[in-house]
Amino acid sequence: MENFIIKGGHELFGEVNISGAKNAAVAILPAAILANDIVRIENIPNISDVSLIIQILDYMGAGIKMINKNTIEIDSRSVQCQSVPYDLASQFRASYYLIGIMLGRFKSADVPLPGGCDFGVRPIDLHIKGFKMLGADVRIEDGMVRASAAKLIGSTIYMDTVSVGATMNVMLAAVLSRGLTIIENAAKEPHIVDLANFLNSMGADVRGAGTDVIKIRGVEKLHGCTYSIIPDQIEAGTYMVAAATCGGDVLIKNVIPKHLESISAKLEEAGAEIIEYDDAVRVTRFKELTKCNVKTMPHPGFPTDMQPQMCVLLSVAKGTSILTESVWDNRFKYISELLRMGADIQVDGKVAVIEGVDYLTGVNVKATDLRAGAAMIIAGLVARGETTVENILYIDRGYEDVVEKFSNLGADIKRVEVKDESVAVTAG
Ligand code: EPZ
Repeated sequence: MENFIIKGGHELFGEVNISGAKNAAVAILPAAILANDIVRIENIPNISDVSLIIQILDYMGAGIKMINKNTIEIDSRSVQCQSVPYDLASQFRASYYLIGIMLGRFKSADVPLPGGCDFGVRPIDLHIKGFKMLGADVRIEDGMVRASAAKLIGSTIYMDTVSVGATMNVMLAAVLSRGLTIIENAAKEPHIVDLANFLNSMGADVRGAGTDVIKIRGVEKLHGCTYSIIPDQIEAGTYMVAAATCGGDVLIKNVIPKHLESISAKLEEAGAEIIEYDDAVRVTRFKELTKCNVKTMPHPGFPTDMQPQMCVLLSVAKGTSILTESVWDNRFKYISELLRMGADIQVDGKVAVIEGVDYLTGVNVKATDLRAGAAMIIAGLVARGETTVENILYIDRGYEDVVEKFSNLGADIKRVEVKDESVAVTAG
């Protein structure tokens, strides 16, 4: 097992390059199977969730060629497999995309119910509703989702809740269906647009991604392509919040500034300065942090995946801030770790009331999930003394070269080997 040891109290200075988007990659890589051809994907993040998907594609019989650590070639011509084993798929949330993908290509899928970070109940009823409306028979049996269809036929599907996963899954199933599928109340996250662009590069006809109505006209077949994944909005946001929390001057490169607007707005309100360039943002913060209220919302609102990191910033900002989580039922588990570092936070359901303190103090903390883990790093960086972050397997699932990237900014952070105590980790 490994931990991070962080000696806090340094401002951050320098440049950091942002990797490809995890939540786009976890859909785009398996979606290559839809092509029944050779697909080359660039700018994939080198993270353990991606390694897991590559293992699944390999198990399914795809030819995998790693061109370098961020570029892969997937040859899916020999894939016949229509089921995925429990031990691989149950380890991460995004395994649910295999249902839409296999249903699309083979009209049959047998996939374990997904695992994932524990934010309370995480239903997949909207995914199932979508598949059924395309004409599939879907049953949950023995912990598996079993879906099959003689043929898939386009339909109009209204999403009762804005869901990233359900929107993408219906897109994946619908690209090879007959006729027109319309997704109403679709999610608008950057990775939805990226998936649509990828599918269109393979010859699909997906329009309207990034708005709340997506139209997919089914095509007979797809073909190979070369595609580069967008930069990771949440990784970029994490470094932005780290720079604003610790103070200093950081240039965050290889980003799409438009994707970061909700984060930039809140950081400016809290006392940071943000300058946008074509493909970079610069975050400087030399004056005192002040309180602000934040409410998570689907895109273009403030992302729930930035909520724990922002909580750390607000815990050392002068005044009382209100942080409201409106996407997940229970995403405040990590706050008990911050309290042990000296934060003053009261949680009532989906609202956290944060009284800014003068400083946090380094202790041993656990990453309770991926973004909570990122928040623990930021807390360690701003705290007085030494912080040990445990359960860092969570962090490795979503952040490429996190120690190297923070070290380059002047942070004192090390990865250390410790006596093995296995931690079962599922993420996404
Ligand atoms: C994706 O999860 C991300 N994961 C999550 O990021 C992210 O927090 C979430 O979107 C919201 O942005 C991946 O992309 C792999 P949802 P997803 O379906 O798709 C309810 C991270 O840290 N809902 O948009 O599973 C659900 O309960 C991860 O990178 C239903 O009711 O989330 C929630 O309240 C963690 N029925 C809301 O919708 C359904 O069938 C949004 O969930 C599906 C969802």
